Amino acid sequence: MSLQVQDFDFVRKLVRERSGIVLDESKGYLVESRLAPVCRTLGYKSIGELVAAVRGRAFSREHKAIVEAMTTNETSFFRDLHPFETLQRHILPDLIERRSSVRKLNIWCAACSSGQEPYSLAMLIREQFPRLASWKVNILATDISTETLERARAGLYSQVEINRGLPAPLLVKYFEQDGLAWRLKQDLRSMVEFRELNLTAALPPMPAMDLVLIRNVLIYFDLETKKGVLAKIGRVLDKDGYLLLGGAETTINVDVSFARRAFGKTVCYRKEGAQQPEGAKP
Ligand SMILES: C[S@@+](CC[C@H](N)C(=O)[O-])C[C@H]1O[C@@H](n2cnc3c(N)ncnc32)[C@H](O)[C@@H]1O
Repeated sequence: MSLQVQDFDFVRKLVRERSGIVLDESKGYLVESRLAPVCRTLGYKSIGELVAAVRGRAFSREHKAIVEAMTTNETSFFRDLHPFETLQRHILPDLIERRSSVRKLNIWCAACSSGQEPYSLAMLIREQFPRLASWKVNILATDISTETLERARAGLYSQVEINRGLPAPLLVKYFEQDGLAWRLKQDLRSMVEFRELNLTAALPPMPAMDLVLIRNVLIYFDLETKKGVLAKIGRVLDKDGYLLLGGAETTINVDVSFARRAFGKTVCYRKEGAQQPEGAKP
């Protein structure tokens, strides 16, 4: 399938406008490899034919399929491990102490892909913080991609996905075999609410968040989009809440309203002026 410049430009513009994802000029190969299966599924012979069918038309399932195909959904259970250790040792204990009078925690996992991240968090809470069983703990997990959200809700993972980061005792305790795959038990699945949400669009009403994880998505955005997304996160994050980004992401030089705090290898961000917990370094 050979990609014409005008079709490539149309796809880049559409994806940028609808998701914030920037595809630079070197990404022609990516567009070709990701859109070939979309063409097959939707019955188009080529990317050119697909683009011709959607160009100048109102936003349709074809437009959405193009945008979704260009998202990168790479994820794994307990990704990078150390952020989850920091959540266990520092962040969650601090939040639990601060919220002990209301006994409520609001957690938002933005750009959750196929669900491994929010489910890792749910397992961590179950395993390490039994006292939260009597609290109201809301874990909201959102993504722009309808297809990945369907996978996330199903909680069905291949052996390869399981092998990437899920400790064997947690597999035994929280999953059941489903053919060659593994399905997360309903009890754990029900701890997470999945919703479609585009981070570059206006946010729907949501409660003040105690903890926001928005990991490995800002890297796909340009500076203006990063600024816009972080400003929105800043508005929903509670004044003493915590923000966790991916290892290659930072608020530095993007949004000055966040202060950087390091716990060993893990960097988290808090609103300027939030009282810092023990063990945190600037
Ligand atoms: C690389 S995955 C990160 C998954 C997970 N947070 C992690 O770190 O393992 C990036 C996710 O961001 C989502 N995404 C991309 N653009 C988005 C947008 N504008 N709004 C919401 N989600 C978006 C993609 O669909 C994809 O699932």
